Amino acid sequence: MSTRTFRIAPSILSADFARLGEEVRNVVAAGADWIHFDVMDNHYVPNLTFGPMVCSALKPHAKTAAGAPVPIDVHLMVQPVDALAQAFAEAGADYISFHPDASTHVHRSVQAIKAAGCKAGLVFNPAAPIDVLDWVLEDIDLVLIMSVNPGFGGQGFIESALRKIEQARARIDASGRDIRLEVDGGVKTDNIARIAAAGADTFVAGSAIFGKPDYRAVIESMRANLKG
Ligand code: DX5
Ligand code: ZN
Repeated sequence: MSTRTFRIAPSILSADFARLGEEVRNVVAAGADWIHFDVMDNHYVPNLTFGPMVCSALKPHAKTAAGAPVPIDVHLMVQPVDALAQAFAEAGADYISFHPDASTHVHRSVQAIKAAGCKAGLVFNPAAPIDVLDWVLEDIDLVLIMSVNPGFGGQGFIESALRKIEQARARIDASGRDIRLEVDGGVKTDNIARIAAAGADTFVAGSAIFGKPDYRAVIESMRANLKG
């Protein structure tokens, strides 16, 4: 497990929206590898968050003290997908992931994201099968397994996601391609090791980090549990 490179991607959904730039800087200073950016449209999911203008406003804040850019990991919970994906590519997103059931032409949406210069990911809801991967795995850079129903932070981890992570890991390994396997929802310091053991290498955490006074302590404890 320890030979894999793990990434911790705090979700700013649980940050203080009145101080978003500062929150991004603080969580980067605390050791965040990526910034997870949850885009909700009050149509695909019953909640509404932020759009590409907020992404471009935050882009300059997603940098280490040494000036290295920290990837912005955009999770689109929107329908339709393509126009917003394009807008987020222009707003500085590094990864753009969407739910295949939200796009009529999944392969075309993936190609459009890549043509816009971003890495492309597919997201699977708790009850969604991952069979579509058989047809697009050679084209994507990330698989995101939802371990809660999308729309809200602070929900409990759905255990069946572990089986789905195992299945996705087997497909990724069989492909031989460099594809990140990310998990989103209910990730905490006390379950992250089990999630990694199932095969995940990239961990979204919202309320576990932004809900706490010391972001660095949480991120360090997650990394320690990943090593152990
Ligand atoms: C839910 C979002 C998640 C959410 C996770 O729709 O995709 O990224 O912020 O929040 P926690 O870590 O609190 O479950
Ligand atoms: Zn998310």
